[in-house]
Amino acid sequence: MNFELMANSFPLLLAGAAITVEITAMSVTFGLLIGCMIGIARLCSIKPLRYFANVYVDFIRGTPLLVQIFLVYFALPNIIGSRVDPFVAAISACSINSGAYVAEIFRAGIQSIDKGQMEAGRSLGMTWAQTMRYIIMPQAFKRIIPPLGNEFIAMLKDSSLVSVIGFEELTRRGQLIIARTYASFEIWMAVAIIYLIMTFAVARFTGYLERRFDTK
Ligand code: ARG
Repeated sequence: MNFELMANSFPLLLAGAAITVEITAMSVTFGLLIGCMIGIARLCSIKPLRYFANVYVDFIRGTPLLVQIFLVYFALPNIIGSRVDPFVAAISACSINSGAYVAEIFRAGIQSIDKGQMEAGRSLGMTWAQTMRYIIMPQAFKRIIPPLGNEFIAMLKDSSLVSVIGFEELTRRGQLIIARTYASFEIWMAVAIIYLIMTFAVARFTGYLERRFDTK
């Protein structure tokens, strides 16, 4: 076990970890925007909207993220006629993917609120949208925090898949260092430990949020 090599590689790997955090944060943020709209669309009474949302969620959750990355990076350029930057491809694929998972989190959160809450809002003369905004969402939000934390952790790990299109995040950096040094054990252990520290930190943070908002 070459500890010196491990220590020397750490700065490079940490820079990769920062990129991992960056794509994860961006993907989950875009995923939140997409997921909020798709999640509500799945519950609304307008049929085409509901149908589109269902197809979106089924397609994304029914196909591997790896294949979706290939679709965006290799297949899409054939149609639009120009290459996609690996960073753009990575963010797009991960955001579109995360959106479907977040949509389900929103839908579950909204549906977990007693339907009497909607009826109460409507009988006070509020519209469906107003009741959603002022009565249902604030209550659903608390219940949504823990699964959103899980989604962030899942994306943090699954973002390692974008290493296959040569995007230099943590996993790809590990591969590149090994290509030079042949020290697979040391480097993959270091990569694993860095992922572990990151997921652990996020888990602790969501634990704190849960206590803060007293979600139960
Ligand atoms: N591992 C699953 C896949 O390959 C899920 C990937 C994305 N995970 C997520 N929570 N957004 O399709």
